[in-house]
Amino acid sequence: MASSTIALGSALVLLAAGLVGWQRTCKSPPPWQAELNALGQPRAKKLPGTAVVCGGSVAGSVTARILADHFERVILVDPEVDKVDQPKTRIMQYNAMHGFLCLFVVGGKKLWPNFDAEIQAAGGRSGSAQSGLNYSGFPVLSARSLPDTMLIRRPGAQRAVQKLLMQHPTATNITFISGTVRGFDPSGDMSSVQSVLIRKTDGTQVSLNDVALVVDCTGPTQSGIKWLRSAGFTLPENLRRSYNCNLRYTTISFTVTPELEARLPIPTSSQDKMITYVYVVHPKFGCLLVGLLKPEKNILQLLFSDSGEGESGLPRVVPDILPFLQRFPGHAPIAPWLVETVTLLCEQGDASFCHTNMPTQSYIEYHRVPARNLPSNFVAIGDATLQLNPLHGQGFAKAMLNGIALDALLRSLNTTSLPRDFSAKFFKKNAVYTKGLWDATRLQDYAYPTCRPMEGETHETGRFMRWFGDKLVTAALRDEEVATAMWTVRHLLAADSALFAPTVLWKVLWTSSCF
Ligand SMILES: Cc1cc2nc3c(=O)[nH]c(=O)nc-3n(C[C@H](O)[C@H](O)[C@H](O)COP(=O)(O)OP(=O)(O)OC[C@H]3O[C@@H](n4cnc5c(N)ncnc54)[C@H](O)[C@@H]3O)c2cc1C
Ligand SMILES: *[C@@H]1O[C@H](CO)[C@@H](O)[C@H](O)[C@H]1NC(C)=O
Ligand SMILES: *[C@@H]1O[C@H](CO)[C@@H](O)[C@H](O)[C@H]1NC(C)=O
Ligand SMILES: *[C@@H]1O[C@H](CO)[C@@H](O)[C@H](O)[C@H]1NC(C)=O
Repeated sequence: MASSTIALGSALVLLAAGLVGWQRTCKSPPPWQAELNALGQPRAKKLPGTAVVCGGSVAGSVTARILADHFERVILVDPEVDKVDQPKTRIMQYNAMHGFLCLFVVGGKKLWPNFDAEIQAAGGRSGSAQSGLNYSGFPVLSARSLPDTMLIRRPGAQRAVQKLLMQHPTATNITFISGTVRGFDPSGDMSSVQSVLIRKTDGTQVSLNDVALVVDCTGPTQSGIKWLRSAGFTLPENLRRSYNCNLRYTTISFTVTPELEARLPIPTSSQDKMITYVYVVHPKFGCLLVGLLKPEKNILQLLFSDSGEGESGLPRVVPDILPFLQRFPGHAPIAPWLVETVTLLCEQGDASFCHTNMPTQSYIEYHRVPARNLPSNFVAIGDATLQLNPLHGQGFAKAMLNGIALDALLRSLNTTSLPRDFSAKFFKKNAVYTKGLWDATRLQDYAYPTCRPMEGETHETGRFMRWFGDKLVTAALRDEEVATAMWTVRHLLAADSALFAPTVLWKVLWTSSCF
């Protein structure tokens, strides 16, 4: 009797100790937190040679800034790099609504101490990273706290980042070339990239030699895979995985007078949020979303998105907007103040429309290529490797996360040249950091009949995750700890494991989904 009590007692103690350890592991900062702290510090002795960055949008700018801390010279090539103040013509989503997750801003401030000032100069401001998320008629709780993010339209964000890059002291070691990267030549033993071929905007061809590292930042063009193949590197046939969510996106930007803006019935608590209001319907009702954002002074943006093939039913002119909003399905109608706000905007604002049909979502799984089949000095950052469903606003933060992984790997080197497996090591590390983004968004999208799954997967794939997701959102309607875990993971400030900490997990599992 006594001995079995003791046995039970020690089992309970062990279980409790296990739970405490489990809790601590799940709640500990993500692996990139410590790496983030080192971001922006110049390396004592620079690595010899030239790092070539192909593409100068957000991923390219972040990457060039990071590489200037590590290499003697950096060259950034982009056809529009010399036109800082002109609208970019090669970025399809340039006028689409953008929200920015915390990790981008937290990382941006590490790289550029005057980050906030430059965002302001470009017309933006700091604001709360909370979003007024109404999930199918149920308001989701906010996180206990989140660092601030930036509120700004994409063109302003783009301009600010490019100016930050060009004005930072490290820019003395960065050369900007207006041109297009055409490919690269391997070293004789196929162990590295030796030279990069460029066609300058003026038509002249240049070959850059002395290449220490080459980074593909070409966005959805994902040129790296073509360059590698034409240089003779053997890559698996199905390296690029893709699915098609058939997403359509309409951003309506309203320019409003200060008088009109003051009359809009937006609750004060919502005014300075990253997303003033967003109503997402549960997949049961289809794939539909409406969002309202106040990115800049006297500008409000309304976003509609749906999924389907052929002609979209999304509003195309102002008179379409209100009927569309009033037909919105869901478990409860859209907040009346939103409808009133949109009514006023339609009557008195000056509207411009931006329609975007999304290309497929895709992931080049470079981490599956054996080290010997990759040149030691090639990596890819941003949409050049992973292009996600944009509804979750992860693009900029994801580029920052890739950049942090690259920075950390470079800092861990104890040699002056990159080891043979540098490229493979980078892709493996990066894959660990970003796998959750690809899986969570893709498997969520499979809930929509209009989505075409990836080869080898079906609409059934990810059922368990979607079941868990419904319970998670339901728990986040009522419980602040769950909501906080969910939002910090969403903002890339915590690893997915934060959702599996015992104190969070049991609440999620005990909640029955209200959808
Ligand atoms: C509709 C929509 C809405 C989105 N909303 C959000 C959001 O709310 N929040 C968010 O964070 N993200 C959002 N995203 C995603 C975000 O816009 C992208 O993740 C981001 O632009 C990726 O940056 P990038 O630098 O990798 O590529 P891009 O911005 O596409 O830039 C690629 C650059 O490479 C250059 N280039 C291409 N080929 C070459 C070459 N051969 N040589 C030299 N240069 C070359 C191009 O000129 C361009 O400048 C959205 C995307 C879409 C489609
Ligand atoms: C969410 O929608 C429901 C139903 O319209 C409404 O009662 C609730 O106030 C809304 N919450 C927010 C934060 O908009
Ligand atoms: C530029 O490069 C040189 C040579 O590597 C280095 O000594 C110097 O610190 C760099 N300048 C900046 C601002 O990083
Ligand atoms: C350098 O790093 C490698 C791998 O990280 C390690 O195996 C090696 O022992 C290190 N060498 C020195 C001299 O620290």
